[in-house]
Order: sequence, then structure tokens, then C-alpha cells
Amino acid sequence: RAYAIASIPGDGIGVDVTREARKVLDRAADRHGFALRWTEFDWSCERYTRTGSMMPEDGIDRLAEFDGILLGAVGFPGVPDHVSLWGLLIPVRRAFAQYVNLRPVRLLPGTTSALAGRTVDELEMVIVRENSEGEYSEIGGRHNTGQPSEFVLQTSVFTRVGVERIIRYAFELARTRAGRVCSATKSNGLIHSMPYWDEIFTEIAAGYPDVHSEQMHVDALAARMVQRPDLLDVVVASNLFGDILSDLAAAVTGGLGMAPSGNINPPGEHPSMFEAVHGSAPDIAGKGIANPVAQILAGAMLLEHLGQLDAARAVHAAVEKVLAEGAVATPDLGGTATTAELGSAVADAVG
Ligand code: NAI
Ligand code: MG
Repeated sequence: RAYAIASIPGDGIGVDVTREARKVLDRAADRHGFALRWTEFDWSCERYTRTGSMMPEDGIDRLAEFDGILLGAVGFPGVPDHVSLWGLLIPVRRAFAQYVNLRPVRLLPGTTSALAGRTVDELEMVIVRENSEGEYSEIGGRHNTGQPSEFVLQTSVFTRVGVERIIRYAFELARTRAGRVCSATKSNGLIHSMPYWDEIFTEIAAGYPDVHSEQMHVDALAARMVQRPDLLDVVVASNLFGDILSDLAAAVTGGLGMAPSGNINPPGEHPSMFEAVHGSAPDIAGKGIANPVAQILAGAMLLEHLGQLDAARAVHAAVEKVLAEGAVATPDLGGTATTAELGSAVADAVG
């Protein structure tokens, strides 16, 4: 069978790493008896500079037809980050109700954690970040501009439907893993939103007596992630907290070059979108030295989402084999290989 996949390489290293991910995914598809039919879209800051918009007006409608979306990264100096975020990423996440941002985190062989002395098994967790509401909202504004009384308001939005579905997703996921959920809160400081989040967490936890649940203030949770990451399995967090915790989690497990993520519409009514956690890395863009592993692993998440579990496992195994051997490594991994060399090595390891 064949799947229709939209590829949006975007800006900077997004373009390089997406090319390598496609190389690896095509190989895995070929070896496992299915095909990926790619359609590439040039939606990016480069397009914005040329035309005044990140994507065409019917962009969302065009994506709706696909079985999945692979996104590189968007954002580049000269175009404000809120343009790339609100002009492409956030509209896609919201239009397709991709309310789960899933960020699996694992220390891979041949890589170094920022934490000395941790073994691979100890660092295996997944961040479930709320991806559609919360602190990332357009509600608010600047008032009394230029006056001594100037102030800004930025309002968070937490809906019952939104909070329930993300927390339930975390509990369901925990049942397939080590069976522990830790919720990030800050109910001592954010006295309306976070007590509400906590209340719903407690309600839902009661329906999962087989899953160990706990709640931690996000600051203490950040410290635990560094000091005792082995205690964590599924971490569920609001949009902002989840964003920050997942970059921290990526850093403690070998760096941004290794961390994939999925923007998931769990019912599968709309396409889900997979991307590396990292951005377009303007500091190394155009040099051909970006680590493609994060994007390749994002591709493996896409295969898993399509139900091609064997192919997804084959991609994981190939990444682990190449990293463990260590002969082909990009500069961030201490080597001298190019993006394309590492991508080809992984593709060859797929078979
Ligand atoms: P970044 O993730 O692009 O880069 C942070 C640092 O990590 C840089 O030193 C970079 O060279 C390094 N790095 C990142 N990915 C790497 C890889 N695959 N291999 C080797 N080194 C890697 O984050 P930054 O600098 O904050 O953002 C740059 C641009 O990317 C901004 O415009 C930002 O808005 C955008 N961005 C886009 C995202 C997306 O499309 N989802 C996510 C994060 C940032
Ligand atoms: Mg982030």
C-alpha cells in the first residue's frame, strides 16, 4: 500500500535533515513492502520574504488530504519568530486538532548525556505536552502604550475538554509503558489555571488505579529531571511547561540533534505532523553538518503513527547501530561526518 505524505522542509537545517529523513524512510518503506508518496511544499520564511505569507491561503485545506506531515523547521533571522510560529506551525496544530505534542526521550548509544554517569536504561521518558491551548494564546494585549502606566496582559486558556483529553492520553500511554505519570503544576503561583489542571488530573487519575500518579511543581520537576530522571516515565504538562521541559529532557539525553517530536491528532481524523524538537539552527545552516538523527527519529514516529511498526523499529535499530559504531558522526556528536553521510549510513543500516 501507499501513503501520501506532505513534506515541509522549511528553513535552514530543516531542509538538510528532512532530505536525510526521507532517504531513510523510503528505504524502510521499500524493505517493508509499502510506499511513501511525497509531496513537497516550500512553505518557509524564505516564502514569507518573497510573498508575505508563510503558506498559501488554502494551505490547511491542501494538507488535510495527507496521511501524515513531515516538517523540518521554520524560522530564520530577518523574519520575526512569531511570524513563522503563528503563520504556519500553530495554525496547522490547531486546524488539525493536534492536541498532543509527544516527545519521547531516550539516551541513545554512543552519545553523551549532559549528566555524567547515567546509563541508557535510566533515561527513558516521554513528555506529553498540551499542544492547543494553555499559555500560548492570542488573548491579551498592550495597553497605555508609552505612558508610565503601560502594561501588557497575556491570558492563558484552559478548557475542560482540552485538559481532560491530554491528561487521559498520558494515562493511556503510561499503561503501555512503565505505568507512571507525573504532572507538572505550579498551583502556588498560577492560582486559577493550575489548581484547575490539578483538579482534573486528580479526577482522571482516580480512573487509573493501576497507574502511579503524582504532581510536582514544574520547578521541582525540572530539578528532578536532572537529578533523578530514572524516576520519570510519562510527564504530562501544559503547553508552556511542556515546551520547556522537553528541551531540558532533550539536553539531558544527548542534545537537540537527537530529539524527535510528534504533533498528534489522536482520533486520526486529521493528519498528524512530525518534526525534530530543534529549530532551523541559523548558526550552522548551509554548512551541511546538522545532525539528521532527530528528524530521522521523527520519521520513525510517523511510520509508527501510520501503523508500520516493523518499519519504525527498523529505523530505530539502524540509528542505534550507526551511533553505537561511532564511525559516522556529525560534529555535535564529536565526529566530522556531514548530514548526508550520517543519513546515508542510517539508510544503509536499514538494509
Ligand atoms: P535551534 O534548535 O535552531 O538551535 C539551538 C542550537 O542547537 C544551535 O546552536 C544549533 O546549531 C544547535 N542545533 C540544533 N539542531 C541541531 C542539529 N540537528 N544538529 C546539530 N546542532 C543542532 O534553536 P534556536 O537557535 O533557538 O532557533 C533558531 C530558529 O529556529 C528560530 O527562528 C526559531 O524560531 C526556530 N525554531 C523552530 C522550531 C520549529 O520549527 N518547530 C522549533 C524551535 C526553533
Ligand atoms: Mg521548544
